[in-house]
Amino acid sequence: MKLYDDLAEWWPLMSPPEEYADDAERIARLLRPEGAAGGRMSILELGSGGGHLASHLKRRFDMTLVDLSPRMLDLSRRLNPQCRHLCGDMRSLRLGETFDAVLVFDAISHMVEEHDLLATLRTARAHLRAGGLGVFCPDFTAECFVPGTTVGGTDGADRGMRYLEWVRPGIAGTAYRADLVYVLRHPDGEVRIEHDGMTLGAFSRTAWVRALAQAGFGQAAVERQSGRDVFLAEAV
Ligand SMILES: C[S@@+](CC[C@H](N)C(=O)[O-])C[C@H]1O[C@@H](n2cnc3c(N)ncnc32)[C@H](O)[C@@H]1O
Repeated sequence: MKLYDDLAEWWPLMSPPEEYADDAERIARLLRPEGAAGGRMSILELGSGGGHLASHLKRRFDMTLVDLSPRMLDLSRRLNPQCRHLCGDMRSLRLGETFDAVLVFDAISHMVEEHDLLATLRTARAHLRAGGLGVFCPDFTAECFVPGTTVGGTDGADRGMRYLEWVRPGIAGTAYRADLVYVLRHPDGEVRIEHDGMTLGAFSRTAWVRALAQAGFGQAAVERQSGRDVFLAEAV
């Protein structure tokens, strides 16, 4: 995808860090319920992108951030210099260490086939201590999938961007399509238009619960958060 590669520098204008404050607050409450005792928890985030979500979570948790895209990692290093950053694929990463929790936020939507979802959940399980928590936040499950169009974007000091995202069902059962058009205003005033098309995954809740069990998690819980299904499961 151009957005995670040649166009990565536009990510902070497309989806600024401050837009992640509410999601981070909700996730922090799942990771550490009010009143829970203990020291600073260690969190591994897979598919951490530009580190916008992590920029909030790092205030409360020790974050290790992993992404496939070197350019997205560069953005995140600038925003979150105090966090550890690693390049890796969430389906195959093996660090040989464990964490108190593993978080996969919107990046889990890039898993299109059930075997990719399972591979990612196995990665998460392999990096959790016994009793550690896996938290997974797909953009859509099959049950909450809503086709539609979103527009957004912001202005920076010397440039600006706007985008239109068109989400619609895919041809195959668990996949859906997202087409993104970016309107990029460069520092010299020139405006260019770019397009990205991607196939993403929207698995059923049953498929999620099955894959979590296969990956070695205990009983999974599904929480509804702002129209999204969030899956929580402990490593057994
Ligand atoms: C929407 S962005 C995540 C943005 C992030 N939540 C933030 O706060 O900036 C999705 C990210 O998933 C990453 N990604 C996609 N497939 C991946 C994989 N197999 N392993 C690791 N990262 C992956 C992409 O490189 C991209 O940075």
